[in-house]
Amino acid sequence: MSTRRPFIGGNWKMNLHQQDAVDLALALADKVSGDAVQVAVFPALPYLLPVAAVLHEKGAPIAVGAQDVYTQPNGAYTGEVSLSMLQDCGVTCVLVGHSERRHVIGEADPLINEKVLASLEAGMDVILAIGEKIEQREAGKTDYINTGQLGYGLAGVTDEQMKRVTIAYEPVWAIGTGKTATPGDAQRAHMVIRQAIAFMFDQDIADGVRVQYGGSMKPGNAAELLAQPDIDGGLIGGASLKADDFAAIIDAAAVPA
Ligand code: PGA
Repeated sequence: MSTRRPFIGGNWKMNLHQQDAVDLALALADKVSGDAVQVAVFPALPYLLPVAAVLHEKGAPIAVGAQDVYTQPNGAYTGEVSLSMLQDCGVTCVLVGHSERRHVIGEADPLINEKVLASLEAGMDVILAIGEKIEQREAGKTDYINTGQLGYGLAGVTDEQMKRVTIAYEPVWAIGTGKTATPGDAQRAHMVIRQAIAFMFDQDIADGVRVQYGGSMKPGNAAELLAQPDIDGGLIGGASLKADDFAAIIDAAAVPA
């Protein structure tokens, strides 16, 4: 575990209708307290408001995030939602470049970079997700892919803005599959990501950036992953849909080094 404050995000993806989302937020509000760990949940777009309302009413230390953003402030962009609209709904944190946006929806690095820059400009905290596919890993290209996505994604970000950026390393083959990177493999990838940030910015900034691990993190493997020196939290999909499991991961992150 590092000295950086761990950050645990719950990416609910396209799951949970309104009542289930509100019930999960209520259950989490009862289980999550203190500020040892930064916590955010990312509900589906239509339920940002009710989830934010419940968490606010309960005074829960849980931020509400959006799973995706659009770059433009307003206008003829059918189907999109602006950053200020998200802020109106209580959103303070956004996910950009999740592997499902990259590989299922087809977003490429230049758009991801625009989204990062627009979100930071709007004052949001940003989680930039990166990670290699299985064939890239097998070809020995893990670091090449990660540092490439990092370089594209963070192009034009200022030193000051980097204080609001978190990186999520999510090997694509581990997302939703039950397969997890070994703690050693994950640590190695995280270390290279941090070195690349030092190269792009400087060592102080690299030392301060949180790098979350994502990909089938669950209560049974969280402690071992989170004990690695360059793993500063997690981005959790499946296990974030159950209050007990998500709370157990947050508890594992709260254990001091
Ligand atoms: P998973 O998803 O925990 O279900 O593997 C992680 C993610 O996509 O952020």
